[in-house]
Amino acid sequence: MQPTRRQFLKTTLGAAVITIAPPSFHAALGDDGYLEITAGPSMKKLFRTDGPESQLWTYNGTSPGPEIRAKRGERIKVRLINQLEEPTSIHWHGIRIDNAMDGVSGLTQKAVQPGQTFEYDFIAPDAGTYWYHAHNKSWNQVARGLYGPLIIEEDDPAFDREHDLTLLIDDWRLKRDGTLDLASLGSLMDWTHGGRLGNWLTVNGQSAPTFNLNAGEAYRLRLINASNARTFDIDPNRFDATVIGYDGQALDEPVKLNYSPLPLGSAQRVDLLVVPKAGADFAIEQISSGKPYPFVHFKVEGENKNTIPNIRLTQNNLPEPDLSNPKKFKLNMSGGAMGRGGKMIYNGKALEGTDFQTLKQFWAFNGVANLAEAPFFSVQRGETVVIDLFNDTAFMHGMHVHGHHFRILHRAGRNIDEGKPWRDTFMIGSTQTTQIAFVADNPGKWLLHCHMLEHAAAGMTTWFEVT
Ligand code: C2O
Ligand code: CU
Repeated sequence: MQPTRRQFLKTTLGAAVITIAPPSFHAALGDDGYLEITAGPSMKKLFRTDGPESQLWTYNGTSPGPEIRAKRGERIKVRLINQLEEPTSIHWHGIRIDNAMDGVSGLTQKAVQPGQTFEYDFIAPDAGTYWYHAHNKSWNQVARGLYGPLIIEEDDPAFDREHDLTLLIDDWRLKRDGTLDLASLGSLMDWTHGGRLGNWLTVNGQSAPTFNLNAGEAYRLRLINASNARTFDIDPNRFDATVIGYDGQALDEPVKLNYSPLPLGSAQRVDLLVVPKAGADFAIEQISSGKPYPFVHFKVEGENKNTIPNIRLTQNNLPEPDLSNPKKFKLNMSGGAMGRGGKMIYNGKALEGTDFQTLKQFWAFNGVANLAEAPFFSVQRGETVVIDLFNDTAFMHGMHVHGHHFRILHRAGRNIDEGKPWRDTFMIGSTQTTQIAFVADNPGKWLLHCHMLEHAAAGMTTWFEVT
């Protein structure tokens, strides 16, 4: 197969059409309509083209892995082949998926052992920008490159493929010699503080790539943050962009932000609409750390056009929470460095002394580190759940609910989002409270965790059940 040109692969049996976008992506569909995704080691240059190669773990030899595109409601079939040295699984982040296909090792499936395969077969009910990533020891596997974009198209897409750009952002931690720093994976410092932060940004696996755009035409930029723990702070007003969706869910209409920065936390997505002006080349910059750092460039060609395109995305049909009679729960987030400590239960036992270090558990939800036997809560299918969260730690966190999208009803302090947007992952600052609500309409066992992957491994993970 020619990896150098764009390929459109059609499956038989009415399954999804899976398009492989950028030229470096390639994948093979089996006769049975499965897209085969092999997780395995490969050597890649992360740093400069004249630099050394790093030992990555990739899907089909690339990081990001192949872009999977399907239409809303279509069936997606993926055969995961594990050629890694450790067990793995794939989670389809943000998809309101059948529980058995959610890909959480140890909760919804057994981890796929080295040399083994697992078949995912699901329907993606909502259009939008999603991604997939390893969900066994994610702090290790995602840091090494196991993730890719998952784009679900509207029935009648408002943008053609030339105007619909996926920008999957990651920050890698490189050593002085320019290779991926593997020795620091699992560092206690990262686990007790802000997670693993990198020192080298890539977009679609490349450092500061440049895209060519035509002046006067509307583009959709799908930003996906695949980093372990880094929050990117961007300001769409710097390049006259508006927000058209968060975490895959389209807004009523494009929104011009009246605040800056827009934080894009680990696992979050934002869809931007931009109509570039002639001669006005621009970049997207990480603006939080002193001097703005441009990580992707856009070169604008041609002349302005007279008609300004009027773009509206169709919204997905999500169940609206019924706030008249919700099941209410409280989630207190604690632990980490500079925290107030307090009791912490892990595997049914109170942690003390050196337990924290040896078991590598430092964070807790309601005093419990990691998955307990009993769920955080259990509700019946169709009930509205309201969760009041309080972040009693010295750090920001990015909380993710599996299998559902929720509305942010209220948050104290900093104004981060407009209105009451649908999200699957939200940021919560130190000492902040946030209230979310969703209809628990998807039966099964679902994770609720911090998506800063070191925090999740070190205790900030729980689960709930919909019966
Ligand atoms: Cu993006 Cu539990 O995952
Ligand atoms: Cu966290």
